[in-house]
Amino acid sequence: MLSFLIAGSGGREAAFAESLSRGARLHAVMAHENPQIADCVRRSGGRYAVGDADDPDTVLGFARQLSPDYAFVNADQPLANGVIDALLGAGIRAVGATRAASRIEWDKAYSMEVMSEACPEYTPFHRTVSDERELKEAMSEFESRGLQVVVKPQGLTGGKGVKVMPEHLPAYADCSEYASSVLRDRGEKAVLVERLDGPEFTVMGLTDGRHLVLSPASYDYPFRCEGDSGAGTGGMGCFTSGARLPFMDGRDEADCAAIMRRVLDKLRGDGARFSGVLNGGFFKTARGIRFMEFNARFGDPECLNVLSVLKTPLDEAVMRMWDGTLSARAVGFSGESSVSKYLVAREYPDPSPEPVRFKLDAGAAEAGGARVFFASCVREPDGGYRTLRKSRVAAFCATSETVEDASSAVDSAIEEHFEGDLEYRRDIGSAQNLRKLAAAGHVG
Ligand code: GLY
Repeated sequence: MLSFLIAGSGGREAAFAESLSRGARLHAVMAHENPQIADCVRRSGGRYAVGDADDPDTVLGFARQLSPDYAFVNADQPLANGVIDALLGAGIRAVGATRAASRIEWDKAYSMEVMSEACPEYTPFHRTVSDERELKEAMSEFESRGLQVVVKPQGLTGGKGVKVMPEHLPAYADCSEYASSVLRDRGEKAVLVERLDGPEFTVMGLTDGRHLVLSPASYDYPFRCEGDSGAGTGGMGCFTSGARLPFMDGRDEADCAAIMRRVLDKLRGDGARFSGVLNGGFFKTARGIRFMEFNARFGDPECLNVLSVLKTPLDEAVMRMWDGTLSARAVGFSGESSVSKYLVAREYPDPSPEPVRFKLDAGAAEAGGARVFFASCVREPDGGYRTLRKSRVAAFCATSETVEDASSAVDSAIEEHFEGDLEYRRDIGSAQNLRKLAAAGHVG
């Protein structure tokens, strides 16, 4: 039996664990004892360790003890820290972006440079500034062009560093002040990008570095509350459509595919070893598709949706990513629509003062056709669960012919099989929300 090693303890890694443990022995390094990952590991006859899954030495130390056939690492921090490089250096078949390849995610100035070279026509107006003089010049350019500004720190910020005009930064002076604080306090460059209007969405592609198999585009709900209000979060839920996202047409899909392929070719040409998942964030604007950012990994929750419609077993896909035999014939998607929704504490994205205890019958939910993915929680001695006071707690996911039906199936599963004081967004993938999104696509 083949064995796989994963690193991480979120809902995304729980989805990997469920898929990989079906046909292989699973080992895991996780920051906390995610109950689902631990169950999958035990059932498969593997082993797990609780430790710093972002740290190359910790992951490598565990890998050396177990000699897995493959490792699959797919989160921003371990990739940026060089976990893949460490595993490859020890002769382990590690699938994921090396530190050099994941620069496309951890260095936003670099990702804009790559895009400007590979796909200038899809790249928004932007300036990277490293000091006050450059900042002043850049701000007057934005102002004279009448463009509103998005200010991004150059490095990883866990989704918390990006500020947008006018929502977070009402005037140009506020943009300057925030960019100055990035230069001064973080000691990093600041990347200033033209604000784009229109729906934002993601296209993820499985890759062996040469071939790219695109998954259905996904629409994520980053805001905490229904109606897209409240604080930004890691993502409250997501849908993919068996048809197309409501605001996209065939031309948009072709444009995104062309961008993703050109960028992968550029990375390969530059000698950056990339395998795993290339994840593009785009806006559908009145002028067509525009690039916003890249990730070198599956998004979470987007991954839950993509894996729920992936027909090919994940272990087979990972092996193909390693040996360079990915193709759309070998790796395919079911054509169904999918919806995922995260349960979170009332205070999220702020930490909760106390853990929340809850009950969730994942077996019954699955028997009813939904999937459950545990994230920031642990099992209690009585068989219930307890949150870890921060981050998203557990996700429900369902597939169906239409997005609306999958959304209703998730709501019903939560109502029937979950009990406790956690919240979720009912409007994710609802008929009303989809009508709003379709209207947003006809902006010009
Ligand atoms: N859902 C956003 C992310 O994974 O970065």
